[in-house]
Parts: sequence; structure tokens; C-alpha cells
Amino acid sequence: MPSPKLFAPGPIDVSKETFAAMSQTMIGHRGKDFEELYASTQPGLQEIFGTARPVFLSTSSAWGVMEGALRNLAKKKVLSLCCGAFSDKWLDVAKKCGFEADSVQVEWGQEIDPEAVRAKLAEGGFDTVTLIHSETSTGVLNDLAGISKVVKSFPDTMLIVDTVSSLSTVPVDMDANQIDVMLAGVQKALALPPGLAVFAVSEAGMERAKGNPNRGYYFDFVEFAKNAAVNNTPSTPSISIIFGLQYILGEIAKEGFAARQERHAKTNAMIHAWGARHGFEHFAPEGRRSTALTCFKTPESFDLSGFIKNLKTRHNFLINGGYGKIKGTTFRISNMGNETEATMQELIDAMDDVLG
Ligand SMILES: Cc1ncc(COP(=O)(O)O)c(C=O)c1O
Repeated sequence: MPSPKLFAPGPIDVSKETFAAMSQTMIGHRGKDFEELYASTQPGLQEIFGTARPVFLSTSSAWGVMEGALRNLAKKKVLSLCCGAFSDKWLDVAKKCGFEADSVQVEWGQEIDPEAVRAKLAEGGFDTVTLIHSETSTGVLNDLAGISKVVKSFPDTMLIVDTVSSLSTVPVDMDANQIDVMLAGVQKALALPPGLAVFAVSEAGMERAKGNPNRGYYFDFVEFAKNAAVNNTPSTPSISIIFGLQYILGEIAKEGFAARQERHAKTNAMIHAWGARHGFEHFAPEGRRSTALTCFKTPESFDLSGFIKNLKTRHNFLINGGYGKIKGTTFRISNMGNETEATMQELIDAMDDVLG
């Protein structure tokens, strides 16, 4: 039996065509071939980021850039907006990096209220804010525009936004939302194997980084900018994944960014309809749900592990049984990446079969 097809929220299924693109002959990264490859990724990345800034390629998972963004931009005091496993952990990471850090904390499954952010920032002293747009552990899609407006009403306050599970599924509009660092890993909606993160930094963010002596080397944004100016990266990049990225961006261009978002909305709605048919309740509130994945509450009498196991053994599909402290009490289904109405229907038929 081959490995199951992944409908878990990342890593997700990688197409044969993507793997084929990745298996091109290796090239050196300090030469023209690589510079051309690097340059070819920029227009597509800038479109999905909604930015005119260069988009950097980091050979790391998202956490590398999430920690790096703090080390480059934060001066003293960080405010983390916490609403689930990944956003809560970002607060810990800020503390581990030696910053003073505080949070706006809501119950997992709720969204961050921009007015709560305003009240906290009004206490004073914060120079940097971290926000997760789509909290993958709970399925909540936070009000990025509303929160960014509030953060930017406080002078000289940097906004770092994780779009790990929202990038390319909804518009993020980095420049319009005045985001100072925006980042994502490619193993989510870009449907690539893990190992590469993409990120961009505002002009103000770069200025802040330049004045920060403790930004380290591997994730030094000033080094990234210097190298990006000549279509390169500070250290040896994961070239094969970048070949895959070039391919996927070509596919996004062919499909059209708006059509891609519409496809995600449609396939996501199919899972919502499936859940409603079986009486599964959402974990995230209506109106603030990610269109890349769905997080359902596990009903008390429901044998979740049996359901997941049977879906895997009978149909070779893998969904996810919750993350962090809501493991078991929730389950998550991804519709990210290349999934179509037809492939989501296959999953739905399989889940119906398992439920009997
Ligand atoms: C929203 C979000 N942020 C950060 C991460 C961490 O990503 P990585 O493990 O690739 O560093 C994840 C992983 O699932 C995520 O969903």
C-alpha cells in the first residue's frame, strides 16, 4: 500500500508533476542558472503576497523565519496575539529569545478582537506584534485588516504576520495591510514538500533590522536583502524545492489567483456541507473560518480514532485528529493546494463510506 493521500493541514499532497519539476538536474547556487530560477519566482510570489517588496527564500521551516523575524525586528517588548497552538508557541519563542513578551489571549477556537489589541497596546512599551492569520490548530482566520489598522495606529510598532496556512487561499495584501514581515512555509497551500519558507519585509522592517545588533547570521534579514538584490540567498538553498516552487507558481498563474481562491472557497464549503450533513459542529466561529482547512469538534460519542484509522486502511486517505491541547476533541480536514471539487468529492465519499 502506498503512503496515504494527505488531507491533513500540512504537509499536504504533492503532485507527481511537482516532484517531476523538482527532479531537474542540480545546479550551483552561485551562478546564472540559479539567479534565473530565483528571479522567476518573484512575480508570482509578489502577487500572492500582495507586495512590491522582494520575497526572500529561506531554507528552513516557517519557525526559522518566525524566530528570525523577532530577532531582526523586536527591540524590547513583544505582544503576541494568541488564539491557538502556533500563536501561543510564538509567545514562548519570544520569551526564549530573551524579549519581554506579553499576550492578548483568547480561548482556542475564538478570533482575536482588534479592540483587545488596541487596549493592550495602549498599556505602552510594545515595539513588535506577532499575529497568525490562519491559526491552523483551530481553523480560525483572524481579522488581519482590522488588527493591522489598530497596530499601525501605534507609531513605530512592527507587525509580523504568519500566513502559513492562508497564503494563496485568500488575499493577504501585505502592502495594503502595512505588514512589516509576512511569512509562510511552502508545505501548506503551495503544495510543496517541507523545507522552504518564503517571506518579505517592509522598508520600515528593514530599517529596524539594520539597527538591531542581535539578529544573528542565518536569519539576518540584511543578508537576505543584500543577496536578493542579485537574485540569490545568503547560504546554500534547497534548490530542488525552488524548482518545485517555480512550477507551482506557473500553475497558479495559469489558473489565476482569483480562481485559485474561489476553488479553495468551494472545496472548503463542500467539507462544511459534509460536516453539517453529519451534525459535526465547527470549532471556529462563523465568519472567521479559514477556507484552507476545517476544524470540527469531536462529538462525545464519536469514535474519532476509529474513523481516522478506517479512512486510512479502507481508502488510504489521511485526515488529522486535532493538534496540541485539542487533540482528540477536534479533527481537521484540509482542502489546501491542488485539491479540486472532484478530489474533495472522493474524500467525502470515502468519509461517508466509513461513517456507514
Ligand atoms: C500557522 C502555522 N504557523 C507555524 C507553523 C510551523 O511551521 P513549521 O513547522 O513548518 O515551522 C505551522 C505548522 O503547521 C502553522 O500551521
